[in-house]
Amino acid sequence: MPTTRRQWLQQAALSASAFSLPSSLLAFEETRKPVDRIILLNSNENAFGPSKLVAKAMADAAAMSNRYPDDQVPALKEKLANFWKVGKENVLMGAGSSEILGLACLLVSNEKGHVISAEPSYKVWHRQAENYGLQIHTVPLNEKRQLNLPNMISLIAKDTRMLYVCNPNNPTGLALEYESMRQQVLEASKKCMVLVDEAYTEFANIPSMASDAANNPNIIVAKTFSKIYGLAGARVGYAISHPDTIKKLAAFQPWPDVAVSMVTAAAASAAIDDQAFVKSCRERTAANRDYCGKCFSSLGLEYLPSQTSFMLFDISGIKGDFSEQMIARNIFVQYRDHFNGKWCRVSMGTEEEMKAFCAALKSIATT
Ligand SMILES: Cc1ncc(COP(=O)(O)O)c(C=O)c1O
Repeated sequence: MPTTRRQWLQQAALSASAFSLPSSLLAFEETRKPVDRIILLNSNENAFGPSKLVAKAMADAAAMSNRYPDDQVPALKEKLANFWKVGKENVLMGAGSSEILGLACLLVSNEKGHVISAEPSYKVWHRQAENYGLQIHTVPLNEKRQLNLPNMISLIAKDTRMLYVCNPNNPTGLALEYESMRQQVLEASKKCMVLVDEAYTEFANIPSMASDAANNPNIIVAKTFSKIYGLAGARVGYAISHPDTIKKLAAFQPWPDVAVSMVTAAAASAAIDDQAFVKSCRERTAANRDYCGKCFSSLGLEYLPSQTSFMLFDISGIKGDFSEQMIARNIFVQYRDHFNGKWCRVSMGTEEEMKAFCAALKSIATT
């Protein structure tokens, strides 16, 4: 039995190779059953993905991988531009939205200064920003554990290079009321660059700031196919911004847009077309959140009313090393030190996985 994510993934790959082509490429939910003994709920991946249509498009495109994606990537950009009702000059592709976050940090680091973010918020990009000479100033969440945007904006100073707004926020899963957030972002963009991270907006079903970003050189929207589209392993994301900003970001890429391959361009293109899959993921994930919420309540555990594909709940009252106890039951979750207590961030998996998670949680919390 594998005990680490890496061992599990190796086992999954071996098991997948046992399928005959092309079904080994149809990496949708059902094909994973034989290796589904380890439950990965620690990285906010989408257990339902990729959709069947996407898996088929990837398999078809794999055969064309001897060619550069010169036609496919511009076509994908055009499709994304149409989807968001912006121009294709407003779009820059990246290897996941991580690349976009990194490029935004690089862009604003030409002068010394700092980036304002929240605590807790998504911070994987911090090290890169620091390596570019930027400092990170964090602002605690408000009493509802939402981003404290007014406080964050009030701290914008001469040497503020960027404001990072992750909405909905990771790890809380909470989204700000859209119109008020939008107005505040527009206001802040008069003073500095604002990076709006929309990794989880589709789960919350809230609008994108894409069209505002398209007209404003000081707003960059980061989008990803890793979350609701179920393509974390494909590595495809994009920026939406004013053409001037897009050009500046693109100048940092060795070959603009072409971190996206023939296969990932096909995946993203088919994924955008498959909005039925997006809807189904949103609904199944919401049902799983309800199920977990009931489980947390029944055990007297505080949790935040997430609108995303993960939930944060308080494990301060649970004895011992919670993650270790979960791993002993073949379930991977993420331990978090937040709000002066011990918390766990659990990603929503399949219905079966969430049943197993809740059963494991119950047995840990009641012993
Ligand atoms: C808020 C947020 N932004 C960005 C990312 C990066 O995602 P990717 O590089 O896979 O698009 C993540 C991944 O977990 C995330 O949670």
